[in-house]
Amino acid sequence: MTGDCETAPPQGAAADWTVPQRWGDYTPAEHAMWDRLFARQTGMLPGRVVPAFLQGLDTLGMSEGGIPDFEVLSDRLMKATGWQVVAVPGLVPDRVFFEHLANRRFVAGRFIRTPEQLDYLEEPDVFHDVFGHAPLLANPVYADYMQAYGEGGLRAASTGVLGKLARLYWYTVEFGLIREGDALRLYGAGIVSSFGESVFALDDPSPNRIGFDLKRVMRTRYRIDDYQQSYFVIDSFEDLLEQTLSTDFGPVYADIFGADDIAEDAILATDRVFTRGTQAHAR
Ligand code: PHE
Ligand code: FE
Repeated sequence: MTGDCETAPPQGAAADWTVPQRWGDYTPAEHAMWDRLFARQTGMLPGRVVPAFLQGLDTLGMSEGGIPDFEVLSDRLMKATGWQVVAVPGLVPDRVFFEHLANRRFVAGRFIRTPEQLDYLEEPDVFHDVFGHAPLLANPVYADYMQAYGEGGLRAASTGVLGKLARLYWYTVEFGLIREGDALRLYGAGIVSSFGESVFALDDPSPNRIGFDLKRVMRTRYRIDDYQQSYFVIDSFEDLLEQTLSTDFGPVYADIFGADDIAEDAILATDRVFTRGTQAHAR
């Protein structure tokens, strides 16, 4: 996730904004918090999450217990797809974020939520960042998509279209659904790290579930204060990578620059609708 326009890294951070994870400083209570969240999510995700996510958990040895040590995790990720996980103090500027992604480094917070924050957080913690994002980085196609996204971000930076590109990240990397035969599955990190949204996104009658369309997604507003009102469904990671890689976003940005935003809950005549939501939750 990215923050705003500040450019100098905070005290104690390197020029690229990374900080040591200081894994040895986590308390038993913090490790226990991870284990509690991990057990809750892994108990519920089989049959709901894309199989590549569960494979990733396995490849990365994430069921060993406790908050993962980023060095150990990065060794395993490096062997699988050449990615690493590095610690940052909090939200980082867009350019810093893109630069890391383009170099196959995923930036993660090192702090973990408190029991009072079990189901609601203002800023992503290590459980969201690592449990939510790391497993799919062990998937070669998804790994390439994330790098390409970083490169696209660097190209788009300082052109005033980052808001449009951010919507693509939001509706894929954070809140994406994927089709598996006739069924839908979860893959977005914001969903798979959330107990409530893991059920809501897949089963609740409230939200729309709409086939992924690049331009459409880039025009669609999103909610940061509640569950999403629309989720977008990709056919496969291969298809997502192919569509985004083979499209030069320059003309796409130009095309949608003057176009109106699409509301969070809208359904268009051109949408491929999987579920027309009741929007009862939002009301
Ligand atoms: N094709 C995009 C561009 O021209 C780059 C990109 C690839 C962006 C994959 C997001 C995801 O900028
Ligand atoms: Fe995230």
